[in-house]
Amino acid sequence: MGDPRLLRIADPVLVDAIGSVEIQGLIDDLLETMYAVNGAGLAAPQIGINQQILVFGFDENPRYPDAQAVPETILINPVITILSNDLEDDWEGCLSVPGLRAHVPRYTKIRYQGLDRAGDTIDRTVEDFHARVVQHEHDHLVGKLFPMRVRDFSRFGFTDILFPELSVHDTRE
Ligand code: NI
Repeated sequence: MGDPRLLRIADPVLVDAIGSVEIQGLIDDLLETMYAVNGAGLAAPQIGINQQILVFGFDENPRYPDAQAVPETILINPVITILSNDLEDDWEGCLSVPGLRAHVPRYTKIRYQGLDRAGDTIDRTVEDFHARVVQHEHDHLVGKLFPMRVRDFSRFGFTDILFPELSVHDTRE
């Protein structure tokens, strides 16, 4: 947080470039990094690449022990449609905002569309934590970090104070 590369609008990936060594290698790097640090998701701008590529998903995640499973997904050039005006507040963290958590409002039901790493269409309607993860990751493509979405700053703090049991997975360094 504070790096101007996290505040940019990301460029779409040219469809003809998805199969390239560069894009496929970037996707592998994103997945490897996400799993190495127990992320729920990771966006290309978080590793300094200003392209519309997201990875997310997990069966179980020690940083979010109560979260429902989300299928491993590589999502290129995503478009989100909000399907419910209901906003729900829940805890979020971010690998670009280490050691902090906040209650963040997100829409409870969305549709997302985009392309996978083979260039095939993804079109899903999802709710709750899955919808939250996609909205959080998509925000990285439009220069938004979760603290910019916080409404209730009484629920914004250090992970090791708020959730001491999670701090081993989410340090303040
Ligand atoms: Ni994030």
